[in-house]
Amino acid sequence: MEPGQAVVSLRGVDRSYREGDRTRTVLSGLDLDVGPGEWVALIGRSGCGKSTLLNLISGIDRPDRGDIWINGTDLTRLTERERTLFRRKNIGFVYQFFNLIPTLTVEENLLLPAELNHTDPARARELLAAIGLEDRRTDFPDRLSGGEQQRIATARAIVHDPVLLLADEPTGNLDSATGEQMLRLMESLARSARRALLMVTHSHDVARRADRVLTLEHGHITEQAAETD
Ligand SMILES: Nc1ncnc2c1ncn2[C@@H]1O[C@H](COP(=O)(O)OP(=O)(O)OP(=O)(O)O)[C@@H](O)[C@H]1O
Ligand SMILES: [Mg+2]
Repeated sequence: MEPGQAVVSLRGVDRSYREGDRTRTVLSGLDLDVGPGEWVALIGRSGCGKSTLLNLISGIDRPDRGDIWINGTDLTRLTERERTLFRRKNIGFVYQFFNLIPTLTVEENLLLPAELNHTDPARARELLAAIGLEDRRTDFPDRLSGGEQQRIATARAIVHDPVLLLADEPTGNLDSATGEQMLRLMESLARSARRALLMVTHSHDVARRADRVLTLEHGHITEQAAETD
């Protein structure tokens, strides 16, 4: 796939962290393509660099080397401000640790990305109803359970209809019925025109539902054959 055709493409991406005089290489010469309409699952052991990779793709962090394209735009050639504006519009991110804004209510957490993208605020209320948390809309995040916060984080990531949804273990705190409901929400976004979903998961049951399963190991990605059982 050419970088211009994919929703996200990485070529030769390196990222390492310095610790005193030691360097810890996390990603090394990493290539990745996710095409339009695709749902890709990313698995790998704890500490292998999955969150590091999502942070690079979202433009929160920058690679030491290599290129990252989102819908044909090379993120590594944008200024920090341009990257922030680009991310706000094009990317939805369900963070591993939710990152809800503690001083905003549940509803305000959803209204913020909606407003920044001129999305109809009614969409926020609609999503709250869809995830069964409409009655908690005036609560602050610290009053919610882990699973409830995770559902709000998912709704917040899709409220502005992003081109690319990045999700870092988005069902880790959910019972299977609620997890299923969140998966359906994310999947329906991925299947709409020119959109895509890249999801980190430790669950093989979740990964099995993706179009492709990628494994991150020793700094780069290998593709698994589809699981059939
Ligand atoms: N800001 C940082 N400074 C130094 N090292 C870091 C930093 N962020 C991550 N690392 C290291 O990079 C490696 C990859 O971390 P990362 O969070 O990407 O792993 P992960 O695959 O998401 O793990 P998990 O499944 O536990 O969430 C780890 O060894 C971690 O200690
Ligand atoms: Mg992680």
